[in-house]
Amino acid sequence: MIPVCRIEDLPEGESLRVEAGDATAAIAVFHTDGAFYAIDDTCSHQDASLSEGWLEGCYVECPLHAALFDLRSGEPTCLPARKPVRTHAVTVVDGMLYVHPAVRTVPGEPVHAAPEEAVA
Ligand code: FES
Repeated sequence: MIPVCRIEDLPEGESLRVEAGDATAAIAVFHTDGAFYAIDDTCSHQDASLSEGWLEGCYVECPLHAALFDLRSGEPTCLPARKPVRTHAVTVVDGMLYVHPAVRTVPGEPVHAAPEEAVA
């Protein structure tokens, strides 16, 4: 579990990149549509940082070639990306946002936490 930031430090519509350590690639964390989402930061098409992309609801558009990824599943919805990026669980505990990089998810299954949600 990686501490990201206090939830007030990641306002709605914003994103940030989290270095997850040597064993895991960097993770992009987003606050959009009233929830937090985390996916691999590197686009599955080439080497672009998705945390620098543009948010459209629960989707992020890659800043390099405009592939659109669903933050809930990691699946691309258009070319040129063909492969999904991994999603990561997000929890909020006492106002602190955490990412769980080891958790793999089932495509199509949402993994997000509302700001007021706390996980023991
Ligand atoms: S690097 Fe993301 S779509 Fe090409």
